Amino acid sequence: MDKLLIEGGHRLQGEAEMSGAKNAALPILCAALLTREPLTLTNVPQLNDIGTMLKLLAQMGVAVQRDGSVVTLDASGLDNPLAPYEMVKTMRASILVLGPLVARCGEAKVSLPGGCAIGARPVDQHIKGLTAMGADIAVEHGYVVARTSRLRGARLFTDMVTVTGTENLMMAAVLADGETVIENAAREPEVVDLANCLVAMGARISGAGSDVIRIQGVERLHGATHRIMPDRIETGTYLCAAAATGGEIRLTGTSAAYLDAVVDKLMDAGCDIRTEKSPSFEAIVLRAPQRLKAVSIRTAPYPAFPTDMQAQFMAINALAEGTSIIRETIFENRFMHAVELARLGADIRIDGNTAVVQGVAQLDGATVMATDLRASAGLIIAGLVARGETVIERIYHLDRGYERIEQKLTALGATVRRLS
Ligand code: UD1
Repeated sequence: MDKLLIEGGHRLQGEAEMSGAKNAALPILCAALLTREPLTLTNVPQLNDIGTMLKLLAQMGVAVQRDGSVVTLDASGLDNPLAPYEMVKTMRASILVLGPLVARCGEAKVSLPGGCAIGARPVDQHIKGLTAMGADIAVEHGYVVARTSRLRGARLFTDMVTVTGTENLMMAAVLADGETVIENAAREPEVVDLANCLVAMGARISGAGSDVIRIQGVERLHGATHRIMPDRIETGTYLCAAAATGGEIRLTGTSAAYLDAVVDKLMDAGCDIRTEKSPSFEAIVLRAPQRLKAVSIRTAPYPAFPTDMQAQFMAINALAEGTSIIRETIFENRFMHAVELARLGADIRIDGNTAVVQGVAQLDGATVMATDLRASAGLIIAGLVARGETVIERIYHLDRGYERIEQKLTALGATVRRLS
């Protein structure tokens, strides 16, 4: 299994191009299932999760063409509406095929994703919504088995804000008979990107980005070309890495518009951040002080502070001046990086969903274990500032979500090496 070796103590400096958003690309790839015509996507990041989703779609009969960041999907030959356990277990987002498959084929068999390191993460809301739209759903031998002649529009209310739940139901509703209203919808920018792609394919959707989304079902969708939005979590991660090292960086191909909560906290920590227009979206320029001030955060659905940036902020707080309180309200078990950070010398106390981080003057390199995707990012940030060498084990998590991370960090002046 690959490991990452980081020699800490180098200030990040320079420019890096941000990739397309993994969490926008995954649902949008599934949107291709909704039409017989080709869907072409640009700015698709080259990540293991994207590869997994393409494999999953291909085994359903979708023709996939990939040329760097451009992917064309043709689902005219879709003949096997099945998502097997072997694929779903490696990536929970596979559940995103459920809504489109039921809408287009009238049937689907999708493995239940099961638990994952950061929490139980059930999919009951996806099932509840599709049932309300008239799908006949049973859970048999670990699979969600859904059938319907045609979905019908319905008023849907999810018990909690769920991102992929909203996306699944929105994709199902575009081909349903009549109007669907999703209340308590997720407002994440990735939901809006998916809605924009669906509209380009002929769907009738209004309200995406608010907590009430209205969808008028249509008979069929057509092909389209869509550019995937920039990855706000990748961008936030590099901003944190630069901030932690007292660095100065310019990130291109991204946008600060989706990052208000993160940028705000980095400014509270003492960073100077400004945006510049660049040919591809915006550039964000960050200049960090010698030592950051501790900042408290509370994760919550967008536009509040993203849970996917919690581990990175725990890492920067570990070295900041003062004490911070981190509250995780989305996932019940998302502090596993805390014990790993403690191995580097961080002072963190956990009580339920709250972490109290007392900033220390220095971290020291050690061997640590990545437990999930964003936890890995937090450990990298800590490794970049720790004295001496840090080895991060199980970095396959990282390859699921960060494109060319060693190259990007190296270009910014970090000393990072992959050990196979
Ligand atoms: C998505 C993101 C993930 C991010 C998360 C929260 C993708 C591919 N992944 O995950 O990176 O961390 O949003 O911003 O976009 N829940 C239920 N029942 C359901 C659905 C959700 O109880 O049917 C719970 C979950 O267990 C969790 C909370 O609702 O506690 C929010 O989860 P959700 O927004 O669904 O996360 P994902 O869409 O899986």
